[in-house]
Amino acid sequence: MPIYHQLGQIPSKKHVVFKSEEGDMYWEQLYSTLGFSGIYSTLYHCLPPTRVREICEIPQAFVEEWGDAPVQPYHFFTNHVEHSGDIVSGRRCFLFNDDVTLSTASFTELDDRFYRNSQADEILFVHRGEGELHTEHGLIRFRQGDYLVVPRGVMYRIEQLSEDNRFFIIESFHPIETPKRFRNEFGQLLEHAPFCERDIRRPEHREPVIQKDPCKLVIKRRNRFFEYELDHHPFDVVGWDGYLYPWALSIHEYMPTVGKIHLPPPVHQVFQSAGFVVCNFVPRLFDWHKDAIPAPYFHQNVDSDEVLYYVDGDFMSRKGIEPGSITLHPGDVPHGPQPGKIEASIGKKEVYEFAVMVDTFKPLQVTQQVARVMDKKYHRSWLD
Ligand SMILES: [Fe+2]
Repeated sequence: MPIYHQLGQIPSKKHVVFKSEEGDMYWEQLYSTLGFSGIYSTLYHCLPPTRVREICEIPQAFVEEWGDAPVQPYHFFTNHVEHSGDIVSGRRCFLFNDDVTLSTASFTELDDRFYRNSQADEILFVHRGEGELHTEHGLIRFRQGDYLVVPRGVMYRIEQLSEDNRFFIIESFHPIETPKRFRNEFGQLLEHAPFCERDIRRPEHREPVIQKDPCKLVIKRRNRFFEYELDHHPFDVVGWDGYLYPWALSIHEYMPTVGKIHLPPPVHQVFQSAGFVVCNFVPRLFDWHKDAIPAPYFHQNVDSDEVLYYVDGDFMSRKGIEPGSITLHPGDVPHGPQPGKIEASIGKKEVYEFAVMVDTFKPLQVTQQVARVMDKKYHRSWLD
């Protein structure tokens, strides 16, 4: 995140002796991207972060691919899948490719283990619930509508999670960034951006935990899971500074751009990555040209698979949608509003809807989870 942030105690210079008032050494750790050339943070620990007692692999199915899934439009109901489990087992993966994995989760068995995704940045969109994201960088309190952006390598634990919780989780093999066209050359969000730095919630300081009992950390890398037994509590950071840390942005803070006639989804973009973009649809006024058609026109995007995760409201172009529904419109296949929706939108002044869209640049693979809960007639839903 291109905003410098600093919490707790740090020495005035890097790479110099830094001790507590009692004379105990603090241990410097660089947390960086692209070797030593990308954004980074520098953390100061009470104990070296390398103190590991045991390592073992945890067997865990990654995804159940639906190998011969037809290329067609899909609508499936993620709420119809049983959701339970912990931070590792609780994810239900529906779609994936080489760049991104799309899952939902309701965590019912969160335990004392820490978790670190070492292969992918994560966006945890909070569809329902509230809680606390604890990390070495501090604490982020979250609530319904938040995007929690967790760069790869951030160790976290979710605490105080409400019983009724649901997340839409985007795992990206490339960094999650704010859209480039919304930033100036220094990384500052521009005046025409639909959100600004004031909307971005950075971690709050939490006191270091000094506890020398063993703790368990689950690391995900190369689609395998390993349990590390650390010899002390890892949240022993007295201070840190830098540009690389978890952060939050609420969908409710997103100020939509509207036009006299229909504007395409890129005006609703919220994140970018090398393999996809994320846009969000939020309540907004409709187009005000006297003959405007507020509903989208039919479109055939040959290079993108389009995924929509429906959150809340009356989605203007779709029928039969529930909160938690996902539609997938594969690249090249024309799609658009279902019969009657274009005509019904004419003259409407505003729309109340929340949805998260992921447009990928490579085709998505469909998993067996989709086969179990899909509307098998959806591809025929444009017939009268
Ligand atoms: Fe579309």
